[in-house]
Amino acid sequence: MEKEFFFDKKKNDPISRVDSRAKVTGRATYAAEHKMQNTVYGFLVGSTIAKGRIKSIDTNSAQKAPGVLAVLTHLNAPKLLGYETGKDPSKPPTAGQPLRIFYNNEIVYYDQPIALVIADTYERVLHAAKLVKAEYEKSEHQTDLHANKGKAKKPSGPRAEDYNRGEIDGYKNAAVKIEQQYYHPVEVHNPMELGSIIAHWEGKDKVTVYTKTQGVEATKKSIGDAFRLAAENITVNAEHIGGAFGMGLRTWPYEIAAIMGAQKVGRPLKLVLHREQMFTNVGYRPVTVQKIGMGATPEGKLVGITHEATANTSSYEEFTEATVNITQFMYACPNLTTRYRLVPLNVCTPIWMRGPGEATGSFALESAMDELAYQLKLDPIEFRLRNHADKDPEKNLPWSSKYLKECYQMGAEKIGWQARKLEPRAIADGDWLVGYGMGTGSFGAMRWVATVKGRLEADGKLLLQCSVNDMGPGTATMMTAVAAEVMGIVPANIKIQMGSTKLPPGPMQGGSNVTSTVGSAVHDVCIALKEQMAALLGKEGSPFHRGNGQPIKVEDLTFSEGIVSLKNSDSVKVAYSDLLKQHKLPALEITKESKGGQQPYSMYSFSVHFVKLRVHQPTGRIKIDHVVSCADAGTIISPKTAASQMIGGAVGGIGMALMEDLVVDHRFGRPINNNLADYHVPVNADIPQVDVLFVNKKDPYLNPMGSKGLGEIALVGMAPAIANAVFNATGKRIRELPITPDKLI
Ligand code: MOS
Repeated sequence: MEKEFFFDKKKNDPISRVDSRAKVTGRATYAAEHKMQNTVYGFLVGSTIAKGRIKSIDTNSAQKAPGVLAVLTHLNAPKLLGYETGKDPSKPPTAGQPLRIFYNNEIVYYDQPIALVIADTYERVLHAAKLVKAEYEKSEHQTDLHANKGKAKKPSGPRAEDYNRGEIDGYKNAAVKIEQQYYHPVEVHNPMELGSIIAHWEGKDKVTVYTKTQGVEATKKSIGDAFRLAAENITVNAEHIGGAFGMGLRTWPYEIAAIMGAQKVGRPLKLVLHREQMFTNVGYRPVTVQKIGMGATPEGKLVGITHEATANTSSYEEFTEATVNITQFMYACPNLTTRYRLVPLNVCTPIWMRGPGEATGSFALESAMDELAYQLKLDPIEFRLRNHADKDPEKNLPWSSKYLKECYQMGAEKIGWQARKLEPRAIADGDWLVGYGMGTGSFGAMRWVATVKGRLEADGKLLLQCSVNDMGPGTATMMTAVAAEVMGIVPANIKIQMGSTKLPPGPMQGGSNVTSTVGSAVHDVCIALKEQMAALLGKEGSPFHRGNGQPIKVEDLTFSEGIVSLKNSDSVKVAYSDLLKQHKLPALEITKESKGGQQPYSMYSFSVHFVKLRVHQPTGRIKIDHVVSCADAGTIISPKTAASQMIGGAVGGIGMALMEDLVVDHRFGRPINNNLADYHVPVNADIPQVDVLFVNKKDPYLNPMGSKGLGEIALVGMAPAIANAVFNATGKRIRELPITPDKLI
């Protein structure tokens, strides 16, 4: 392992989460917790049919109920300028909100909002919402992917194009091959924090919102587009987010409704979704059927892979994800074909969820790799090593860094892989069968654009500001760790302000980009502050002045404990506060934009997940004994929060593999288990020892810290590792998630 670059030097210990005290004491404020005078409460009434029209809607009793201020429906809601379609009525509305809330009487999915009731207390609004009555003219809905596979069509856009290298469906000519179909159902994000917003207007054209979003800038743009407001008149705040897993990656109609409602009553309006509405109105992982054809030589060299996926979208919008893309670069394979299709259904539009398409795609790909390895009588790790891609076979570029082989090795050792038997059902422990499995994960290593403002006060305290927010992984901690390292100050002297569009613009928190993007900006700002210091020091009259016209270089300058000194020189030192005084400055300050450039490298993070589990033969119950997750995510900046994130990914993967399944009653087009009692997610008792290992080697190209992304690879490859371990234990290959006991007996 290389030296860990980022840690609290004072304690010689990894940095701890900087906002943990605020979170455990309740001082961290989430969207719905902001206090505003005169706040009113909104509640959405949803459609009880999945497709058709509202024939009539009776809001009279609701209007007359105690405390009710207004009821908004398609009959009286303001017509948002952004809802217009422009010149071409067949095109989506200009605001990018294809589901135009309260726009007309059309119903396109079950629980689509048909009314917003507004009252002075939460209890009164809940009561009044029950009094809204609608009559519908139903038409035939479609919510079943299987029944509608014939309607599958190619999505538009380059990302979902059919892909081919070598011979089309070249796997068919291989000596050893498999052809299988894999399936996973709809899964729902279900973060602890419900979808929540407080909206408040000042006058007619100035709005402030506190909302649950993974990107305040993106939400600001959506609000501007829908309401046609100038950017400077919109403030979006979202400092703390109670989990999101992808559901906060867009602005949903409920947020638009709340802003409309606040405008209508001229008071701050708070709208918190009910848990049931979290299952129907804010996206989910789409149901996907995948087919894999995979062939190899008898020596275990891949000849070809064909990977096809058919997923659902909504009837009003195309949502695509990178389900088949992972197969294009994961292994050295000469003949590669992928196809991706969509089936529109009468449901809310899906959205990225936890490792999105790569998690879905890796379930099929890594299960198929395990199946073919077994047919070849090869250890699954050995099979992967024989087909290791030394360079990116899709882009035909070298990797910026790739330590996947190290992950295989570290993880195999930790889980005790040598105890695994090639033949299934070979290890028994009383009534239990024991098995080992593994799966590989990967996700693009991104770097987007961020602007950070840094201000270094005379007392040595550093303030960093960026609008980026944190849905949990520890963004502020990462920013603190980078600044502590680059600036040479202790974490306790660093203050982070984030999560508001009043601050310099940062990226969305998604796609595992934030550490790379915002960390780089923090790095650059700290270097720029040091450059300012160097410039002051180099001026005539300074004890550092060299008199030879040579500027002082940042690399030669050390800033520690408020003292500026030159490296390798004990004699030249000055207190930072004296330096400022000398130049009559209150502080040093800079705002800087930072972004990555095009590079001739292919950039990905990699992970390998190992699972040891046991299956109870009489009941089919699965007990996971041990999980080992290894990541190649470049330099690990904050080991504690990084390890937490990996554990979270493992938990998500266990849910995906064993429990999560939104059951839809297709007769009515609505979910049955739309609550956390019936929609199963892992609880503490389901989670075994999870060991997290990091290769922790620098990526030389992506960003100055040498880090790569971590969020998605924590989960990508986890579900197939479990499915593969179930096969190793029982000899049963389960290709339909979730792997519930009934499938094993
Ligand atoms: Mo993530 S699925 O980019 O929140």
